[in-house]
Amino acid sequence: MFGNIIKFEKSKIYVENIKKIADTNYIGFHVVFEEPNHKTVGEITEINKDVIGIQLIGEIVDGIFANGVMKKPGMNTIARIIYKSELELILGNQDLSNRSNLLIGSSPIYKDYIITSNINEFFANHFAVIGNTGSGKSCGLSRLIQNVFFTANNNIPINAHMCLFDVYGEYYNTFDEMDKFVGLHFKKYTTEIRFGDANLLTIPAYLLTVDDLAILLGVKDSSQLPILSKSLELVRIFCSNDPKSVDYKNDIIAKTVLDILSSGKNSTQIRDQVISILTTYHTEAINLDSKIRQPGYERTLRQCLNIDDQGKINALALVINFLQTYVKVDLDIDLDENITYTLSDLYYALEFALISEGILTSESAFDKNNILKSRLQSIINSDRNEFFKFDRYMSRAEFVEDFFKTGPHGENVQLVDINLSFIEDSFAKCLTKIFSRVFFEHTTSLQDRGSFPIHIVLEEAHRYVQNDSDINVLGYNIFDRITKEGRKYGTILGFVTQRPNELSKTALSQCSNFVVFRLFYPEDLEIVKGISSNVTDETLEKIKTLKPGMGLVFGTAFKVPLLVKFPLPNPMPISTSIKIDKVWYQ
Ligand SMILES: Nc1ncnc2c1ncn2[C@@H]1O[C@H](COP(=O)(O)OP(=O)(O)OP(=O)(O)O)[C@@H](O)[C@H]1O
Ligand SMILES: [Mg+2]
Repeated sequence: MFGNIIKFEKSKIYVENIKKIADTNYIGFHVVFEEPNHKTVGEITEINKDVIGIQLIGEIVDGIFANGVMKKPGMNTIARIIYKSELELILGNQDLSNRSNLLIGSSPIYKDYIITSNINEFFANHFAVIGNTGSGKSCGLSRLIQNVFFTANNNIPINAHMCLFDVYGEYYNTFDEMDKFVGLHFKKYTTEIRFGDANLLTIPAYLLTVDDLAILLGVKDSSQLPILSKSLELVRIFCSNDPKSVDYKNDIIAKTVLDILSSGKNSTQIRDQVISILTTYHTEAINLDSKIRQPGYERTLRQCLNIDDQGKINALALVINFLQTYVKVDLDIDLDENITYTLSDLYYALEFALISEGILTSESAFDKNNILKSRLQSIINSDRNEFFKFDRYMSRAEFVEDFFKTGPHGENVQLVDINLSFIEDSFAKCLTKIFSRVFFEHTTSLQDRGSFPIHIVLEEAHRYVQNDSDINVLGYNIFDRITKEGRKYGTILGFVTQRPNELSKTALSQCSNFVVFRLFYPEDLEIVKGISSNVTDETLEKIKTLKPGMGLVFGTAFKVPLLVKFPLPNPMPISTSIKIDKVWYQ
């Protein structure tokens, strides 16, 4: 079939077509130019009856295939179709009994050949699944995960922790069969509060950090963060049962009231504010009925606030003296760690923080921060409050470990599906960020680095992983941070998206492996081209016309970009296109 080399053109070689038949079935086949101690590998990209065009893709040296061509074949070398033994070097090891080999799919070019990658190369790095709507992303992802877990041999990945953020709830029943395999478990979380048939997705309010609260309350200005930090400090004091916390509560209430007394406002305003504060925030020692004694005379704090004929608070000095006895300079703030609280407790603390802030700073700052209070209030008054309830104390580590456990004996769960379809997009985005942050921090805090890997797979990732305001407010975006730092701790992200163009560029640039299904928007194709220098213009053309379920895989887990046919998953995700002919007509 192959005759003499006619010409070289950049990384392409044109050879004579001896058969004189334009047999396009050979397009995509690999050929080898063999010379002593050196083999150059190419892929047939075009055939006409006279000439065969071959794109050079790599070299085989000492039985190892390496991407890229350092030395082109000599002019007299004759190409041959690749041998089976050599093909495995490109398509991946064909032995699936070896647990290091991850099944990706079948080869559309070579019948009976599968495409595999080293499991570490694929799953120890971030990855992205890209393609237009209906191109086969959800099915391909399901298949890939089924390939990992629906395994009848002894290689059970017992310590995997994969978490699917399932925007449409399409994977809810796709992995049920996992439980049939000894040691493997699939756990479902739902966002349907009332009729949910699975665990409600919850995260205890007491595990939320300042950053989580900022995301939840839609903070757009970093100057609002201090008030949230202060609220978190206060809520721990207000909700602590530690005997030491009593001194603390007295101290902060006394200081706040003293600030009001010395605020320079008129007596009526001062009295009203103090009464208002002490009505809500009081302790056994400091409250409106506290007795303030002077020789031969005893009055309540409320009575001491009475205003006399001259418009003055008549016993101001007494109140000040009384409160000052509760102000402590050196308080031991090491309170008991295991403090639980709800969003309502947090609201109570935020309000107190705002009161003290409103007195000390300008009215405009007070107004700005007051928005936080109303946003928190609206969450508490809505169904969203349910997602932050928890009936017992758990540390962050215990929470994450429990998240990936099931049954009365706490067995390991390897795959979790979070059905986010019952909540609004903006709230789903908040929860996704909060959980991702919790998972990431868990993995970074482990002594034995990487011992608890967590794979976060985001469907419709372009909705979550955007260049949004987090970077200005918090100084980072959790997904960008995970893509940059997560790999070494074992927090791995998998993005599934129709719009790579809308995904944060940082996130995409840190992915090591890509599965690209059909794409036709030029901007999206440009992105694919920009990701890998290995993707040729011919390959890009192919991407435009791929059938559903046919994808191009490339990245560090693959020697060269390869076309893969993904068999349909079984069961399928609930993502099929509607059948117009059935639905429209009866
Ligand atoms: N491997 C496959 N083999 C054959 N047909 C497939 C394959 N994968 C997907 N399809 C067909 O394409 C349809 C859509 O697939 P899928 O839901 O995976 O697309 P998608 O890319 O996830 O779309 P969207 O972006 O809208 O979520 C499937 O219902 C199925 O009919
Ligand atoms: Mg989909």
